[in-house]
Amino acid sequence: MKKELLKKMNKQINLEYFSAFLYLAMAEWLLHQGYVGASHWMAVQYREEVLHAEGFYRYLQRIGEKIELEAIEKPKKEWNSILEVFEEALEHEQLITRSIYEIVDEAKKAGDYAAERFLDWYVMEQVEEEQNQNDNILGVQRAKDDVAALLAFDTYLGTREFGEEDIPYLE
Ligand SMILES: [Fe+2]
Ligand SMILES: [Fe+2]
Repeated sequence: MKKELLKKMNKQINLEYFSAFLYLAMAEWLLHQGYVGASHWMAVQYREEVLHAEGFYRYLQRIGEKIELEAIEKPKKEWNSILEVFEEALEHEQLITRSIYEIVDEAKKAGDYAAERFLDWYVMEQVEEEQNQNDNILGVQRAKDDVAALLAFDTYLGTREFGEEDIPYLE
């Protein structure tokens, strides 16, 4: 694999682990605000992010490249509202999308067709991840100051189930 592409993929492992940490921190804050369902939702997202990181890890191993794990940045721990949590989660996913696109650009530049196809999964996953956060924002906004409606939405978020991700090469 070309050096610059490897560097970017290696960095993505760290970014996905940071995503996991960020959502775990959000889950913790939400729990203490009484949003048990939203906290559960974020805890499920945390597990997904770990798998996203592992996807890159396994791919690089499979093609015989060396992985260098870096320190994971400390996530913040306070938010002002549940709406702010989801807005920040959306912003974060938009950043992840840009990062994935940059890696795709690099793979194209390198003529690395295998990497490009591997990354396809992540490109489509980002559509889902941004949509999820948009849905969460809408759910909270619709409830406005209606406590009962917000509680109902929180209960709904609590029904999220963790499903194994269909990441290429990740057994
Ligand atoms: Fe991710
Ligand atoms: Fe996902």
